[in-house]
Amino acid sequence: MKELLSPQNIDYMERAREVAEKHVRPAAAELDRTGEYGWDILEALKSYGLTGIWIPKEYGGQSAGVLDLCLVVEQLSRACGGVGVAYAVNALGSFPIILGGTEEQKQKYLPPIAAGDQLIAFGLSEKASGSDAGSLRTTALKHGDHYVVNGAKKWNTNGGVASVFTVYALTEPDKGMRGISAFIVERDTPGFVVGKREETMGIRTVPVNELEFHDCRVPADALMGHTEGGGFRNAMMTLDRARPGVAAQGLGLAQGAFEWAMRYVSERRQFGQTVLSFQAIQFMLADMATQIEAARHLVYTSARLIDAGATNISKLAAMAKVFATDTAMRVTTDAVQLFGGYGYCRDYPIEKYMRDAKITQIYEGTNQVQRLVIGRALTREYKGISKELDVRIEHFPEFEGGGE
Ligand code: CAA
Repeated sequence: MKELLSPQNIDYMERAREVAEKHVRPAAAELDRTGEYGWDILEALKSYGLTGIWIPKEYGGQSAGVLDLCLVVEQLSRACGGVGVAYAVNALGSFPIILGGTEEQKQKYLPPIAAGDQLIAFGLSEKASGSDAGSLRTTALKHGDHYVVNGAKKWNTNGGVASVFTVYALTEPDKGMRGISAFIVERDTPGFVVGKREETMGIRTVPVNELEFHDCRVPADALMGHTEGGGFRNAMMTLDRARPGVAAQGLGLAQGAFEWAMRYVSERRQFGQTVLSFQAIQFMLADMATQIEAARHLVYTSARLIDAGATNISKLAAMAKVFATDTAMRVTTDAVQLFGGYGYCRDYPIEKYMRDAKITQIYEGTNQVQRLVIGRALTREYKGISKELDVRIEHFPEFEGGGE
């Protein structure tokens, strides 16, 4: 697969692999146990020039593509899924500013994120508004030169460590999702509280928090793009660009678990031979490897499509997310199976992969939502095709279609 990548892609991938092997893998089990954030890993990412690579050069970044981002996330996730998302979520948080911020907002907020000096989070979901993102209830009502924000956000990945938050709220509650606007909220804004941290099953190194807004006054300048009402579109466009990153997290987890499984079955002996020598095991490994390779192609292709400037990216981004993360769940579960009883124990590295993989099927749009996005795109794409097929149907007089 390396042969299909550009020298720039390979450079990012190799630097990330080095950080993963030298700094992430040795720390992964401890970070999982303690739930501490990998501050040393952030320093390593800085020293390897890997923070905020997706941010345009004019704002301190490297103008790297989504494919480069995915390659870095894949390598980090091979060693630890939590570190993979701790890195990728900064892209999720900053894409809204890159896509919709004013020049001043970009100049102010992007350079510290590019440098890795500040972390950012993405505040869309609420307790009662998850998959139905357009039904959010947090309000931001204009009072003079401020907006007063009230409400709460849920599932804020990076919440406990971020300095800046992209937050979606209703500026015109009567308009429903068309009344949603995006804001850039700084952590020390009075009335803004980073609340309860969730006790999560996996990705334990990254804090996932609630966010609370109690008559929180944010300056009018914090309104994304200084435009009301474009928030939902901004969030959807952001998710289209960020979902390949979650897919890459799933891909890295699957690859990492597969490598551990290969090593284990090569060494473990039963009935006088290695477990690997049994054909039943080789068939399992063949399926795992094939699924990983198929996922890799979809992840890289969806990222390339975005980097090529395509506008119709929702379907492929959703396909990459659903396929790679379902693959992550299947492969990590099979890897635990291959370790047998040891796979179920925390003394071994493999069960963590399965715990980390589970969330990738849930966040940044559940895999059911991804299928909804794909289904809607297919419905649009295939509207015109019935006319083309009409011509061919003439050759099949018995063909009655699906109608009454
Ligand atoms: N790009 C641009 N605009 C888009 C769009 C896209 N991809 N998708 C929708 N829109 C626009 C539509 O064109 C439409 O605009 P008009 O009304 O002007 O035509 C408007 O948005 C509404 O679109 P829909 O009717 O399709 O909206 P919907 O209510 O049916 O919802 C949905 C669509 C795909 C289900 C969406 O709600 C969705 O993606 N839900 C999942 C949300 C999600 O992923 N949440 C995760 C948050 S991040 C996280 O997990 C936490 C973390 O920190 C990691």
